[in-house]
Amino acid sequence: MTDIDYARYDRIRPIHWTGDTLELLDQRRLPFATEYVTCGDSDAVAAAIQALAVRGAPAIGIAAAWGVVLAARDIEADDAAQAAGRIEPALQRLNAARPTAVNLAWALARMRAAMLRAQAGKGGDWRNALEAEARAIETEDLAANRAMGVLGASLIEEGSGVLTHCNTGSLATAGFGTALGVIRAGVAQGRIDRVFAGETRPWNQGARLTVWELQQDGIDATLIADAAASHLMKGGGVQWVVVGADRICANGDVANKIGTYQLAIAARHHGVRFMVVAPSSTVDMETPSGELIEIEERDPGELLGVGGSRTVAEGVQAWNPVFDITPAALIDAIVTEKGIVERPDTASMQSLFRG
Ligand code: MRU
Repeated sequence: MTDIDYARYDRIRPIHWTGDTLELLDQRRLPFATEYVTCGDSDAVAAAIQALAVRGAPAIGIAAAWGVVLAARDIEADDAAQAAGRIEPALQRLNAARPTAVNLAWALARMRAAMLRAQAGKGGDWRNALEAEARAIETEDLAANRAMGVLGASLIEEGSGVLTHCNTGSLATAGFGTALGVIRAGVAQGRIDRVFAGETRPWNQGARLTVWELQQDGIDATLIADAAASHLMKGGGVQWVVVGADRICANGDVANKIGTYQLAIAARHHGVRFMVVAPSSTVDMETPSGELIEIEERDPGELLGVGGSRTVAEGVQAWNPVFDITPAALIDAIVTEKGIVERPDTASMQSLFRG
């Protein structure tokens, strides 16, 4: 097996903590401008998450954790117990920035737990404890992605073609990516010959971010219109669809970018296998099944134009749900850093995530 040249495949970092501010690579401006949003307080971080300057389930969790570190600076408190109460409104505002990805609530829960440990006299100074926890969340995400890349690639046969959706790469995580990490590892190992990425209308994460990321690595990728996926599968161009997740339920149902569900249906129809790749921070064993997940609906205006130019007649209505639920029955494998769940259901999810 070829080792992965991480230096080649892992050069993009969307989140930079300067020690003073949080710098977020502005994903609204890519691929044509490399600009950073500077966040000096937690509300600026919440606004950047809401506006998709930073996006992708793991990345918004990491950004929110650093947002708590910023909030801590603006709080005067004699001890961790007082600070925990005073910082809570900032955590609530960060949590409300986007509803679907569980990584946001998960990261904030870890930050609360770090405060509690400091309160109990176990974590040292509470501000330092929060900074250490944010750093740990970021570092662990990178390690999880690298582990998942190798695990997921092991399922893919030599000579395969893969189709991915949305952006699940370095831009959506601490680095390397989830589904895109599997694709990077699969290409490095010579298993994947062809990579296709769907545009991912309306925000075009695939067209603007994924194919750009792969280009940075020197990986050939072919962009397709979302509507071309079934045609691609029918022609035998891909053997796997590999996607990320915003929330994985206790029964294996998966919330991910709108369009994922129809890819899973088309994949099953054509005998193409379907892989979901996500860190365990995306697994939500408290939510029994997908219909209980809140699906974010964004401004219909995102659908009414392309690249800032209006393409739809004035007065037309649009509906813009930005995630959907893929039922577990359509998924062949869920890959996490803890291991692989094949043909997920409540029992197989329990054995890996409640064990
Ligand atoms: O709206 P976005 O761009 O934040 O949606 C991102 C996705 O749906 C990704 O597939 C998911 O967060 C996994 S990212 C590793």
